[in-house]
Amino acid sequence: MRSAVLVSGAGGALGSALVAQLAKSGLVVAAGRGVSQSELDGAHGRGRTVAAPLELGVPAAWRELSERLSREDIVVDGAVLAAGGWRGGATLSDTPDDVWSAMLAGNLETVRVSLQALLPGMVERRRGSVVVIASSAAVRPWESAKAAAYAASKAGALALVQASAAEVLAGGVRLNALLPSVIDTPANRNATPKADFSRWVSPASIAEVAGFMLSDAARDISGAALPVYGRVGV
Ligand SMILES: NC(=O)c1ccc[n+]([C@@H]2O[C@H](COP(=O)([O-])OP(=O)(O)OC[C@H]3O[C@@H](n4cnc5c(N)ncnc54)[C@H](OP(=O)(O)O)[C@@H]3O)[C@@H](O)[C@H]2O)c1
Repeated sequence: MRSAVLVSGAGGALGSALVAQLAKSGLVVAAGRGVSQSELDGAHGRGRTVAAPLELGVPAAWRELSERLSREDIVVDGAVLAAGGWRGGATLSDTPDDVWSAMLAGNLETVRVSLQALLPGMVERRRGSVVVIASSAAVRPWESAKAAAYAASKAGALALVQASAAEVLAGGVRLNALLPSVIDTPANRNATPKADFSRWVSPASIAEVAGFMLSDAARDISGAALPVYGRVGV
C-alpha cells in the first residue's frame, strides 16, 4: 500500500507548485483538468506522481478515481484542494447567472464533492489531513466589490471546511483552509502589469505552508483559516 497526497487543480498555477513541493517527499495524485502523466513525469521524474484528469465537481468521476487508486494499491491520506477560479468586474445586480454559477461550481462545489469523496476513507482509516485553498475574500468580502460571487463562493468553502473539521476531528482527520490574497501568477501579472509583484505571495511559498499544514508538526491544528497574504497590507 502506497500513501499519497492528492492535489486538486493540479494543472493550475498554484496546483503545479503544490505538486512540485509535495512530490519531493512522497507520491502525489495530481487531479483536475489539464494534467498529463508525461508532463508530470518530465517535471518530477517517473513514479513520483499519478495523473488523474477529472471533473472535480462530478461524484461519479471521483468514484472512478477511487476504484483506480485502490486497484493500484494507493491510499490518499492527505489532500490540498486548489481548484477554483475568479470571475468578476460587475456589481451583483449586473452579474450574469453564468458567472454566479461558475463561481459556485469552481470554488464551492468542487470542495464539497472532493470532501465527500475523500473524508469517509480518511475517517475509516483514522488518518488524514486536508488543506483547502480559499481566499482572503472569504473573511474580507468588503475588498471584493464587483466580485461578490467570488467572495460568497470562497466564504461558503471556508464554512464547509470549518463545519466539516468539527465533524471529523474525533475521527483523526484534520481540515484547514489557507486564505491567500493575491498570488504571484502569470495570469495576475498579465492582468495588472504595473502592480508591485514583490508584495504578492508566491505559489511556492503557499505550497510550503500547505506542506506544513499536512505534516504531523501541525497535528494539533484543525478548523483554522490561515491568512497567507505575503506583503499585501491588511
Ligand atoms: N490567483 C490568485 O491570486 C488567488 C488568490 C486567492 C485564492 N486563489 C485560489 O487559489 C486556487 C488556485 O488559483 P490559481 O491562480 O492557481 O488558479 P488556476 O491557475 O486557474 O488553477 C485552477 C485549476 O483548477 C482547475 N479547475 C477549476 N475547476 C475545476 C473543475 N470543476 N474540475 C477540474 N478542474 C478544475 C482549473 O482548470 P481550468 O483552467 O480548465 O479551469 C485550473 O487547472 C483557486 O482556488 C483560487 O481561487 C487564487
